[in-house]
Amino acid sequence: MLSQIHFILNDENIRADEPVGLLVLDFLRRRQKFTGTKEGCKEGDCGACMVLVGELSDGHLNYKPITSCLIPLGELHGKHLVTIEGLNTDQLSPVQKAIVDEGGSQCGFCTPGIVVSLTGYLMQSDYSLDDDGIKYALGGNLCRCTGYSSLKRAGKHLVKQFGNGANNSEPTNNDTIFDELIRQNVLPQYFKTVPERLRNISSLKTPAVEKPDYFVAGGTDMYVQKGELLPDSKVRALNLHPEIKGIKVENNEVRVGAITTFEEFANHPEINKIIPEMQTYNLFNASWQIRNRATLGGNIINASPIGDMTALLLVLNSTLVLQGEKSRRVPLKSFFKEYKILDKEPSEILTEIVFPVSASNTEIHFEKISKRKTLDIAAVNSAIKIKITKQVIEQIELSMGGVAPIPLYMQATCDYLQGLPVNPETIQAAINIALSEISPISDIRGSADYKRLLVRQILIAHFTKLYPKIVNVKSFYEVN
Ligand SMILES: Cc1cc2nc3c(=O)[nH]c(=O)nc-3n(C[C@H](O)[C@H](O)[C@H](O)COP(=O)(O)OP(=O)(O)OC[C@H]3O[C@@H](n4cnc5c(N)ncnc54)[C@H](O)[C@@H]3O)c2cc1C
Ligand code: FES
Ligand code: FES
Repeated sequence: MLSQIHFILNDENIRADEPVGLLVLDFLRRRQKFTGTKEGCKEGDCGACMVLVGELSDGHLNYKPITSCLIPLGELHGKHLVTIEGLNTDQLSPVQKAIVDEGGSQCGFCTPGIVVSLTGYLMQSDYSLDDDGIKYALGGNLCRCTGYSSLKRAGKHLVKQFGNGANNSEPTNNDTIFDELIRQNVLPQYFKTVPERLRNISSLKTPAVEKPDYFVAGGTDMYVQKGELLPDSKVRALNLHPEIKGIKVENNEVRVGAITTFEEFANHPEINKIIPEMQTYNLFNASWQIRNRATLGGNIINASPIGDMTALLLVLNSTLVLQGEKSRRVPLKSFFKEYKILDKEPSEILTEIVFPVSASNTEIHFEKISKRKTLDIAAVNSAIKIKITKQVIEQIELSMGGVAPIPLYMQATCDYLQGLPVNPETIQAAINIALSEISPISDIRGSADYKRLLVRQILIAHFTKLYPKIVNVKSFYEVN
């Protein structure tokens, strides 16, 4: 289905009559012949196709690097799409120069994506610009021939050049950073004209696609699973509905719009109050570029038994708000029926995820075991929410992923632990109950036996990390 999509591509205003579900990568390379944006894995893993997407929010422009192999073109309406061609000027930009000076490019296939990611990182006012920041920035970019040492050295140049400048000056916001980056030739001059041009486009509305075949939120699952079908299908891009994005706390409840991304969730001050380690847990999920796209709603609805956010949302006691002809609420704990079978009509949209603000002295902990520590899908993941008083468990919620056809709320284990003292004997007995509650299968991420072992280790990890003064690993092994 064709739709008229208005946006800015680099310095050019575009009106495209194209299918909403057409991949931005295909639009760039096949329609526009902008071949600087490379096609590699087409699954969000390699970063060769990286672009920047800028949008106005509260009158200010924000840019994020994202993989163009997973975004529907229709979603770009009213936005600014920047490719490597749109960052080039007559001279090398400081990002390009740092890579050249440190020998950070050989075959050059990955280089446009790396330049885009680093430039995008310099455009953020709320991320620290230091060596760790550079690693964060390049989390979604693979380089298969040069290696990463020279890129890290190039990053050090940028930290030196900009670390005490645009990004760290006070007060900082994106507008002052962009002025500085234009002055320093990181961004071309035309960036100054973009906000006004976007305001003119944003006032034009695209009609919502009626009776869509598919909903796409971040597209990080849809385009991997159904990428070939989407350009020829009726696609509703949920990112054109900002009313279902964002986080607010009202009446002791946290209300999270379904298209809120992992990155927005993990960095939100209210979420950091409830889950103090959330930013660390977020690092275990995908790359910065994918986390800029992947939504909480998509994580729930794709119903993967190892969805990382779903494991956390289960223990937060979340309720889903579904909008069809009528609005209805479903507890997340009873939403998953069987493998990929949900308490949801195909036409219903998940609009909100709601959970109570945790009582004081409540601890939340998340564990994820995967073949690689970061940037990998879990073999088993688990979250726990627990409150103890005088060493006795007053409230407990526990989830395990990767051990059943659905993301599993561990009801029997929770029922057992409620009211018991925290000690190695209790935990050992809880492990036995947990093992009777799961039904793992052997697959590419590990054998069923290995996953059973992980469930045991994860339960020990939850308690020993949360209550090291009451149980430590040694005291636990003395029981056996
Ligand atoms: C490189 C890479 C790494 C990844 N790493 C991880 C990881 O570490 N941990 C992890 O948990 N996942 C990971 N994923 C999987 C994926 O990113 C997540 O599951 C993500 O949360 C999906 O969200 P999305 O918005 O992209 O969903 P989409 O792909 O847009 O949609 C997924 C499904 O949900 C439906 N849907 C989405 N939103 C709604 C809504 N509001 N209402 C109704 N239906 C909706 C869609 O129709 C579709 O069926 C990774 C993916 C990639 C490509
Ligand atoms: S082509 Fe590999 S991330 Fe897009
Ligand atoms: S320079 Fe060849 S893949 Fe990076």
